[in-house]
Amino acid sequence: MSARGAARLCLGLLSLGALFSLGGCAKQPQAEQPREIIVGFAQLGAESGWRVGNTADIERAAQRAHVQLMYKNADQRQDNQIKAIRSFIASQVDVIAFAPIVEEGWDNVLREAKEAGIPVLLTDRFIRTEDESLYAGFVGSNFLQEGQAAAQFLLQKTAGQNHVRILQITGTEDSTPMKQRQQGFEQTIAGDSRYEIFQTISGDFLRSKGKECMRNVLRETRDIGVLYSHNDAMTLGAIEAIEEAGLVPGEDIVIITVDGEQGAIDLLKQGKINCVVECTPLIGDVIMDLAKKLAAGEPIARITYSSERTFTEYDSDLQALPPRGY
Ligand code: AHR
Repeated sequence: MSARGAARLCLGLLSLGALFSLGGCAKQPQAEQPREIIVGFAQLGAESGWRVGNTADIERAAQRAHVQLMYKNADQRQDNQIKAIRSFIASQVDVIAFAPIVEEGWDNVLREAKEAGIPVLLTDRFIRTEDESLYAGFVGSNFLQEGQAAAQFLLQKTAGQNHVRILQITGTEDSTPMKQRQQGFEQTIAGDSRYEIFQTISGDFLRSKGKECMRNVLRETRDIGVLYSHNDAMTLGAIEAIEEAGLVPGEDIVIITVDGEQGAIDLLKQGKINCVVECTPLIGDVIMDLAKKLAAGEPIARITYSSERTFTEYDSDLQALPPRGY
């Protein structure tokens, strides 16, 4: 056996915890294993493919990082999320992570976490609070930038038009993505009189509601130049309603959506969607890294944004895109 082969064999046996030594293979001191930390993660629900992908990614990342995950799903209810956080405090987890369904109403429970000495990491969405010390940091997407990117595509696509009528279907009221995607989009086209957002309605990030909203609007008018929808789930529902009404999505109505689920990218390739602004749910590894730092008492960045892109009908690499994973 070559010297390299023998070395590899030694390493293999050591990593398996072999208790004996081989001729010519010196016994190595075993590296001390870091203590496994416990992270309590309160997910807000399972309202979209994005959310399901986010949960699966966090579970996989916890396994990879040897983090013990206590997971609770709040089924779209803030009171359930608060209960979940209280149960993590009672269990004395090392770190609490949660994706706040809405921005308001977290101070009391987060004060309890602070008093118990448990650091809190916000994932995906922000909270609104007077006391910034109630959470250690945030990891997720820049929703304001997503709204701006959606509007940039609109400006490009409709450059030669005099009057563009836009229907906006928003996400869950008082949630960060709903507020910032709306703000980023509206601020970017503000002052340009060619653009008229003739209606803004909430679809709560749900496919069924996206379809219902679109169906109701189409009963009133067919004069819709653009649909700006705050997530793919609602967009997929809206497209069903558009097709049922005998219109062609992507042609009769320009469609701009946010997330980048596989289903939306497939429709972009087919020409039924014109622009997909990416919002990645694949933040599990970063969450685990930050949670380990917090558990070790190390400082973390106040905000960690994901890096994202925009996919449009003008891109030449659409057919070569790797599977999205959500
Ligand atoms: O907070 C992220 C948003 O929540 C995603 O855009 C949406 O699909 C999800 O429900």
